[in-house]
Amino acid sequence: MLLLERIGTLVTPKPSSTKHREPPRACGKEMGEITLLRNAAVAIEGDTILEVGSSAMLEEKYPTAERIDCSGKTLLPGFVDSHTHLVFAGNRSNEFAMRLRGATYQEIYEAGGGIRSTMRSVREASLEEIVEKCRPLVQSAFAHGTTTIEVKSGYGLDTESEIKLLEAIRVLNREEEPTLVSTFLGAHAFPPEFANDRAGYVRLVIEEMIPEVAQRGLAEYCDVFTDEGYFTVEETEQIFAAAKEHGMKVRVHADELADVSAASMASRVKAVSADHLLMISEEGIADMKEGGVIATLLPGTAFYLNLPYAPARKLIEAGLPVALATDCNPGTNMCENMGMTLALACMGMRMTIEESITAATLNGAAALDRSDQIGQIAPGMKADLTLFAVPDYPDIVYHYGVNQVEMVVKNGKVAVNR
Ligand code: NIG
Ligand code: FE
Repeated sequence: MLLLERIGTLVTPKPSSTKHREPPRACGKEMGEITLLRNAAVAIEGDTILEVGSSAMLEEKYPTAERIDCSGKTLLPGFVDSHTHLVFAGNRSNEFAMRLRGATYQEIYEAGGGIRSTMRSVREASLEEIVEKCRPLVQSAFAHGTTTIEVKSGYGLDTESEIKLLEAIRVLNREEEPTLVSTFLGAHAFPPEFANDRAGYVRLVIEEMIPEVAQRGLAEYCDVFTDEGYFTVEETEQIFAAAKEHGMKVRVHADELADVSAASMASRVKAVSADHLLMISEEGIADMKEGGVIATLLPGTAFYLNLPYAPARKLIEAGLPVALATDCNPGTNMCENMGMTLALACMGMRMTIEESITAATLNGAAALDRSDQIGQIAPGMKADLTLFAVPDYPDIVYHYGVNQVEMVVKNGKVAVNR
């Protein structure tokens, strides 16, 4: 047994109790209602939280437990980064520099760059090369307090290369400490060989890639980039129908570059989460609320592309559950730091610090259909915890852009200790 004792500040989000939508999540204004304990302790048995309470009480109750003194520090549930593309090959710092000189993301894509540039690097790289390139990114995310990371394929765009990316996720999940949740994103862009045959590529995704990915058990989710210049709502619905037939759940890149009613579609197809939402319409907001779809916002991407942020306040006021994730990827946000993501959410989208913490823990877990196991510090939950070297939780956002994580506990074991 392990006892984290004398915790200066313990913060854990609260799921909304109303109109029971599974999995547990905090909706709208309730995202701001966190539980705060001072001088607390957490008793951990194996990989699970046994008890949470006052430090004096638990120190007495568990006298033989191994102890870690957390005085003057702040404990949160480990961050859940529910949207990343962090397996890839190559480097697009040249495109980043081009954007700083005025080129847009769309212009670079249309000139053969963007996703298709990473695609060329991925097709040339071996599985081992991809694993070794991405391992430090996974380790860095973990050192920044992220204990569960969703990772998408989507830079292969042919069957063999998409499988290679999903295999890389599987290897990293086995070998590295954070939990990796895998998503098949074959419909991320049209590869050049199908530039004049969109229907042909959609057929390849449906008839070859999805069955192969499912047969090998390589993905829990299927995602599609539904946007102007990428996949239409109709194409997306065909792909999702096939994915569901093969036992995958669905999530979607929705209305990032233009409002194409992808948010409403997400509700129709019962997506667990619709992500980005920079251009979401009023109708889209109402439909997502109705369908219980989580709104995953990626403020780092808006920041990096210099675009207007998603309307977080509107979504929260409408009562939606909002999650926060990095979108870590080589093109539109080369950043795996969830602490920085919270700061951008607060400063760029006017979320409160409490809302941003709930969005990055409980609601991120809900966006991965795991909030019955992770995302809160409560008895019965997995002991995935992040300790910050700050006396109170506002400092996590107030002092931004640096890593204030002191210790990460994963599955009940101390894994990062800085
Ligand atoms: O989430 N929006 C679509 N896909 C990624 C970008 C991928 C890239 O440019 O490499 C995103 O921002
Ligand atoms: Fe993305």
